[in-house]
Amino acid sequence: MWDPSKYLAFADHRSRPFFDLVGRITAEAPRRVVDLGCGPGNLTETLALRWPSATVEASDSSPEMVAAARQRGIDATVADVRDWQPSPDTDVVVSNAVLQWVPGHEELLASWVPRLPPGAWLAFQVPGNFGAPSHVRVRALAATPRWRDRLESVVLREDDAVLDPEGYASLLSDAGCAVDAWETTYVQRLTGDDPVLEWVTGTALRPIRTALSDEDWAEFRSELAPVLRTEYPRRADGTTWFPFRRVFVVARVP
Ligand SMILES: C[S@@+](CC[C@H](N)C(=O)[O-])C[C@H]1O[C@@H](n2cnc3c(N)ncnc32)[C@H](O)[C@@H]1O
Repeated sequence: MWDPSKYLAFADHRSRPFFDLVGRITAEAPRRVVDLGCGPGNLTETLALRWPSATVEASDSSPEMVAAARQRGIDATVADVRDWQPSPDTDVVVSNAVLQWVPGHEELLASWVPRLPPGAWLAFQVPGNFGAPSHVRVRALAATPRWRDRLESVVLREDDAVLDPEGYASLLSDAGCAVDAWETTYVQRLTGDDPVLEWVTGTALRPIRTALSDEDWAEFRSELAPVLRTEYPRRADGTTWFPFRRVFVVARVP
């Protein structure tokens, strides 16, 4: 289950990659702008503001996220990105920090290209931090005898990870698109107690939270907290650096 308030706790850090992504889309008057995996809708709102004449279509597989988006006035619907079909007037597709949850998303991306109109934009960003200590340590803890039986199947495995920018660039240029792909590591400055634990609780730990009872979840977190504190030490001024790599792709249908 996604918790919109937990997710929005780091809204500033989480929204910057979105703006870096959509800043590379130069569509002037798109007819339909689609936000796949719109989350709580705070960023979808900015698409509507940027392209006021466009029909904005938003969807997310989480009913809680869709409810939060609807509260903001976004006409979002509950749907899985794997079932999405582009309407013929879809000029811009954005999917920010979603496709890492979708195994096989490479095929999905390639399948959309021939169904989008000429000149359409397909822009997405995925975290590229599966090899970062924050993820490696979670997987290692989940694989210990104490947790393995319940968590093995819910933890994202390395082979579920995303491609490098070159991988997506090749995929989409082979599908006929002009592609702009890059990566950025944001050196995020977090504050508060156990901020990295709080960060991953809102995203990567979500399937683990769902799989455990309240009691076991508290125990899992208490085992993980000191590990993350060691990997991401608190500095003398009370802040913590949390480097975060992200992969960006903006493709243009010919
Ligand atoms: C990290 S949040 C990103 C939300 C929003 N795009 C943003 O940038 O703030 C990931 C979102 O992907 C959604 N999601 C995960 N798997 C999905 C799927 N298969 N289909 C649609 N949405 C999905 C989640 O429900 C969640 O809202």
